Amino acid sequence: MRAFVTGGAGFIGSHLTDRLLVEGWEVVVYDDFSTGSELFLEGARAHDGFQLVRGDVLDAARLTRAMEGADLVCHLQANADVRGGPLVPRRDLEQNVGATFNVLVAMRENRVPRILFSSSATVYGEPSVFPTPESAEMVQTSVYGASKLAGEAFIQAFGEYEEIRSYVFRFVSFVGERYTHGVVFDFVKKLRANPREMEVLGDGRQRKSYLHVADGVQGMLTALSKAEGRANVFNLGHEDCLNVLTVADLVCEEMGLAGVRYRTTGGTRGWKGDAPTVQLDTARLRSLGWAPAISIEQGIRRTTRYLLAHPELFGRR
Ligand SMILES: NC(=O)c1ccc[n+]([C@@H]2O[C@H](COP(=O)([O-])OP(=O)(O)OC[C@H]3O[C@@H](n4cnc5c(N)ncnc54)[C@H](O)[C@@H]3O)[C@@H](O)[C@H]2O)c1
Repeated sequence: MRAFVTGGAGFIGSHLTDRLLVEGWEVVVYDDFSTGSELFLEGARAHDGFQLVRGDVLDAARLTRAMEGADLVCHLQANADVRGGPLVPRRDLEQNVGATFNVLVAMRENRVPRILFSSSATVYGEPSVFPTPESAEMVQTSVYGASKLAGEAFIQAFGEYEEIRSYVFRFVSFVGERYTHGVVFDFVKKLRANPREMEVLGDGRQRKSYLHVADGVQGMLTALSKAEGRANVFNLGHEDCLNVLTVADLVCEEMGLAGVRYRTTGGTRGWKGDAPTVQLDTARLRSLGWAPAISIEQGIRRTTRYLLAHPELFGRR
């Protein structure tokens, strides 16, 4: 079986690639390395079944050719920068909606029967029910969330036309090795520059769920092997959550720093489009036998240690 992984050189895509190879899949990674890294593919290169194609998902002809022979598309490519949305909304339209559309057209050309898609908890906007189930009302509060929801909608529509089975995952914030963006990255970066004082966006009381990437990949593969529906949608996260100041405390502890003064910028949101609480109901995926093995605290600590061991990552973002 051959999997075609867009964004396979990125944080989550490279872990998914490694795991698929271990499970005996052939994997073609398609990536333009805009935020991904060759380093993340070092393990994958050791497998005979691995192939890399450098290319832009917006290059439809190249994408379609590279996808030939795939049995499964894992569409992980995106502009994953949630915060930048209000400044450059067209980027989410092109890199998320347009790119997903291209992937679906290429799947049709190549008659690929299954797609796995990395959506996001941001599609719920600011929900009123916690933990938030997949059936919750969705009111969009960010361009990024809107672009992910549009991606889901196109997948559903193509699924009807082309009989494509879909596995859509609404991720909370993932953490773990090869992490290159998000709150832990920002904190470590700021504390490396100034270990005495750190700005924290919002009032620091935002409560969020985080999930270690190994648990996330396990969740996706569980659904892929066990979900029976044609259009499957799963929340993917820890049901616990931590507030942002507790995350800051854990990062400081791992960095051996005491007495750091936090300067909160105020307000219940870190930025426009940020949700004060992210806590997803994962009963649907758990009913298939999945459960996270790594606590949020361990995930944050491991991520901090990884970043400290890889300072070269800070030069890139
Ligand atoms: N990291 C999270 O916590 C999180 C949360 C929710 C959803 N997601 C989604 O999961 C997916 C993976 O996120 P990530 O954190 O690994 O991000 P990432 O930035 O590490 O990975 C994205 C990959 O896509 C590649 N890419 C970007 N644009 C491209 C293009 N036009 N053509 C070809 N390749 C391109 C990048 O080089 C990179 O390797 C994304 O779809 C993201 O929106 C991530």
